[in-house]
Amino acid sequence: MKIGCIGLGRMGSGMAANIRKAGHEVIVFNRTPAKAAPLAALGAKVATRIADACQVEAVITMLANDEAVREVVYGDGGVLASLPKGAVHISSSTISVALAEQLAADHDQAGQGFVAAPVFGRPDAAAAAKLFVVAAGRPETIGTVNPVFAAIGQRTFVVAERPEAANLVKLSGNFLIASVIETLGEAMLSRAHGDEKLPPQVKNTVTVCNANRLTRRTGAVCAAPIVCWPSKRKSFTASGVARGRSWPCPGPSSGCSG
Ligand SMILES: NC(=O)c1ccc[n+]([C@@H]2O[C@H](COP(=O)([O-])OP(=O)(O)OC[C@H]3O[C@@H](n4cnc5c(N)ncnc54)[C@H](OP(=O)(O)O)[C@@H]3O)[C@@H](O)[C@H]2O)c1
Repeated sequence: MKIGCIGLGRMGSGMAANIRKAGHEVIVFNRTPAKAAPLAALGAKVATRIADACQVEAVITMLANDEAVREVVYGDGGVLASLPKGAVHISSSTISVALAEQLAADHDQAGQGFVAAPVFGRPDAAAAAKLFVVAAGRPETIGTVNPVFAAIGQRTFVVAERPEAANLVKLSGNFLIASVIETLGEAMLSRAHGDEKLPPQVKNTVTVCNANRLTRRTGAVCAAPIVCWPSKRKSFTASGVARGRSWPCPGPSSGCSG
């Protein structure tokens, strides 16, 4: 296949390299051009404009966040304006459900395919083609881009036909991981110092900091930590976080109330 790879950060560089190593024709684009050099050494073409990386059957974006994806897709000469009809945008960045929904609708209207395919796995897994891909989109569209998933991951989970469902699964997975880290952290702190001896500031700060960091990342599920943390906390340490119910939500999207 002829595949465009946009975003050559810690994750995207490994993914693009593995797509190339799997024998596909690859055109890469990165905002900071120097990061494309290792890909050129593998035989990828280096595009100087996003539009040039979109003259392909499928383009995969692996960018920092919603803002970066919006800029690359909706900007002048961006993915939406440049991808040929019938070609597919694979969005692998960890983005909000709302943006994925918007991307699906806009690509559909432009006659382009759209698959949301966020991934689980760290940059070392991306480099080793060991990612877990969570994919959602029309079955025929996913069928078209399966060779891309085979090149970057050890397993692909197709979760739904509506693309944004994959982003919900990814964000929920991140929430689960963060919850486990939070719980283990509190357990170790409590074990080391004795729960009753911890000053209230510490007891409250640990959870509120993590909940806030998490809500900033997830957006779509940002109500969850605020609602569920207090009940979990009751059986564990102080009740201070219960007051967190009335804290303003620091999530990135206006969907915070949900
Ligand atoms: N790191 C992980 O462990 C991990 C695991 C799973 C999923 N993810 C997700 O994968 C995505 C990429 O993560 P990463 O670790 O590869 O991040 P990263 O190393 O920071 O790379 C971010 C990429 O986005 C590009 N970018 C940022 N803002 C941009 C803009 N406004 N316009 C154009 N390009 C822009 C960067 O370009 P420049 O090089 O020019 O800065 C870079 O290519 C994120 O959504 C992340 O949540 C990460």
